Amino acid sequence: MTEEIRWGVVGPGRIAEQVVKDFAHVDGARAVAVASRSLHRAQAFAGRHGIGRSHGSYAEILADPDVDVLYIATPHPQHHAVSLGAIRAGKALLVEKSFTATVAGATEVVEAARTSGVFAMEAMWTRFQPAVVRARELIAEGAIGDVRSVQADLGVSRAFDPTDRLFAKELGGGALLDLGVYVVSFAQMLLGDPDTVTATGSLFETGVDAEASLLLGYADGRSATLMTSLRNALPGQARVFGTAGWIDVLPRFHHPQTIVLHQVGADAEEITLPQLGGGYSHELIEATECLRAGRTESTVMPLADTLAVQSVLEQAAGQLGVTFAEDPAAL
Ligand SMILES: NC(=O)c1ccc[n+]([C@@H]2O[C@H](COP(=O)([O-])OP(=O)(O)OC[C@H]3O[C@@H](n4cnc5c(N)ncnc54)[C@H](OP(=O)(O)O)[C@@H]3O)[C@@H](O)[C@H]2O)c1
Repeated sequence: MTEEIRWGVVGPGRIAEQVVKDFAHVDGARAVAVASRSLHRAQAFAGRHGIGRSHGSYAEILADPDVDVLYIATPHPQHHAVSLGAIRAGKALLVEKSFTATVAGATEVVEAARTSGVFAMEAMWTRFQPAVVRARELIAEGAIGDVRSVQADLGVSRAFDPTDRLFAKELGGGALLDLGVYVVSFAQMLLGDPDTVTATGSLFETGVDAEASLLLGYADGRSATLMTSLRNALPGQARVFGTAGWIDVLPRFHHPQTIVLHQVGADAEEITLPQLGGGYSHELIEATECLRAGRTESTVMPLADTLAVQSVLEQAAGQLGVTFAEDPAAL
């Protein structure tokens, strides 16, 4: 590993356009290459962001010896094959949420990364937001007692477009994999892996989930009530309830600036902690620091948590009658 951590971007779409700007806030890291299925798109992205090398296929960036780590920002079913190829090429990975389209696919990537000793992390930026980090510290200090339940919602009203990845089955569309992953990951972060998953919802005509309400149950009586939707807007609020109070994570909770601590018998305390840049810098810093330290997993977003979240999403989707598949032709 060179002194500077050299990043490559795979799949220069909507989110890559935002994330890449945050390298300006990461010490000792730089985006040095980008790969698209079209050389023209790679070159245009590279031009907009001052990136040196453009590759016209994903295979080319895997063979680029001057790239240490890949940020994979393709649609969900196109993460699996590219991630496995990257691991075979010895490249570390930051993979957009949802990590894959299926539990089997996620398990394969995780096992390959662990066997090869290659760093891999899901780009669940919520866990690295300063306000979320503070909320976890407060909870660990006992500020709200024992956490008993979590509520969270995240939804947007999107015009139906069967060609958009949000609605297309072969692109892993639907609310659960795109937005539900945030509410599930937030609950799993605070409560651990649930014992039961119960989902209610509806589908779009493309066969992907339009909306879902989830009840996660724990054998000791703890619970999470979660909502996600592409059919209607939801505030994007989260609440963590403990035996001695609760914490509100103000909208939108997946990249919040403000939390409000409510302790029984005390005035509410508002705590505001802004993000660096667009808020993606924190996950980039985590991955960069892990690589520099020779770690193969993040302790904040460990792969076991990614697998647990993926399992909840798959169970919920299954109850709504939706199954997804990985795209073996993505690489
Ligand atoms: N962290 C966040 O805040 C956030 C926000 C939005 C999305 N995301 C995640 O980021 C990923 C991408 O989302 P996005 O909204 O950026 O998607 P997008 O705009 O559709 O871009 C995805 C890119 O992937 C590439 N791609 C590879 N195979 C493809 C295929 N079969 N069909 C379509 N595109 C394909 C395309 O680039 P080329 O063809 O040029 O290679 C495309 O531009 C998803 O996993 C999503 O959940 C994260």
